[in-house]
Amino acid sequence: MNMRCYQLASDLRICRILNGMWQVAGGHGTIDHNLALADMLRYHDAGFTSWDLADIYGPAEDFIGEFRRLLLTLKGNEEIEQIQSLTKWVPQPGKITRSMVNKNIEKSLRRMNVGTLDLLQFHWWDYNNPYYIDALKYLSDLKDKGIIKHIGLTNFDTEHMQIIMDSGSKIISNQVQFSIIDRRPEVKMLSFCQRHNVSLLAYGSICGGLISERYLGKSEPSNVELNTLSLRKYKKMIDAWGGWNLFQDLLTSLKRVGQKHGVSIANVATSYILKKPQVGGVIIGARLGIVEHISDNTQVFGFILDKSDQDEIDSVCENANDLFEIIGDCGDEYR
Ligand SMILES: NC(=O)c1ccc[n+]([C@@H]2O[C@H](COP(=O)([O-])OP(=O)(O)OC[C@H]3O[C@@H](n4cnc5c(N)ncnc54)[C@H](OP(=O)(O)O)[C@@H]3O)[C@@H](O)[C@H]2O)c1
Repeated sequence: MNMRCYQLASDLRICRILNGMWQVAGGHGTIDHNLALADMLRYHDAGFTSWDLADIYGPAEDFIGEFRRLLLTLKGNEEIEQIQSLTKWVPQPGKITRSMVNKNIEKSLRRMNVGTLDLLQFHWWDYNNPYYIDALKYLSDLKDKGIIKHIGLTNFDTEHMQIIMDSGSKIISNQVQFSIIDRRPEVKMLSFCQRHNVSLLAYGSICGGLISERYLGKSEPSNVELNTLSLRKYKKMIDAWGGWNLFQDLLTSLKRVGQKHGVSIANVATSYILKKPQVGGVIIGARLGIVEHISDNTQVFGFILDKSDQDEIDSVCENANDLFEIIGDCGDEYR
């Protein structure tokens, strides 16, 4: 069975499927405030207690704050202790000062209605701008004061993670795109993370929903038919990886494997990434209040892929292009 929980740090245990909140930031349908909060409660009650968000994901941090207040009213203090909310700080490139860092972290604390951030994942747009080292130093100081429990990164490549490690900052995770289609983390990132005891949090593992029965046996969708930013983002990945016909071969194999275990295509794709070394969790986007996949995604914890399943999936991918050669290391698509 895939384990349900993962110890990201000695004092931070997460659900291995995290609820992704980019989907509330626009471009994924209209979010109704009350319906979204009701869905958050459903995810939480089903054991999906870990949330991935960011200061730049529209109202995501405010939703966490409201959800915590709601849960306190409904179920009391003990229950809000069960939530893990992993946010990000995504500053504009430029000079970073201590007061800028403090102000931004205070804002996240206030919006999320927490006294401490469980994990602050840091993003940086431009490696030519060296202030990311200063930013991480100031964040480390906040960690020493107990305002941030742990520091993680998002979309950093292996080379710059090494620079950060050499500068003395203690990092526990890197959040990167990782799927059957996008295996770039396997080239350098995984072994680096193994050596430095860093966990990976994977996103894009079901390609915005493209890796599902919904697209099996279907003709190639146009950009207009792809009605979320996420679907459009990962369709481009599939185009670079090998195109729609090869993708159909992959979906057919995933369906076969899924039928063998009595689970869905999305479950197989999620499970495949959860089995990779250093992967702490897979973040699955949730269009809160619009559609939920709670019971289907719960199935991930009820089976495990065997070697013949993995071989079947890998054999389709042998015909695909190498995205590391085309795009570069993790996060290079953002730079
Ligand atoms: N650090 C970064 O730069 C970065 C970048 C992208 C994403 N992320 C994080 O990762 C999260 C995931 O987002 P993503 O864009 O990568 O999307 P994703 O998780 O690959 O796809 C999410 C979509 O998949 C569909 N889905 C979910 N469970 C399903 C199931 N069991 N069966 C069939 N379809 C299912 C849903 O589509 P429908 O709603 O249409 O049903 C959902 O909206 C984001 O919210 C964010 O937290 C981080």
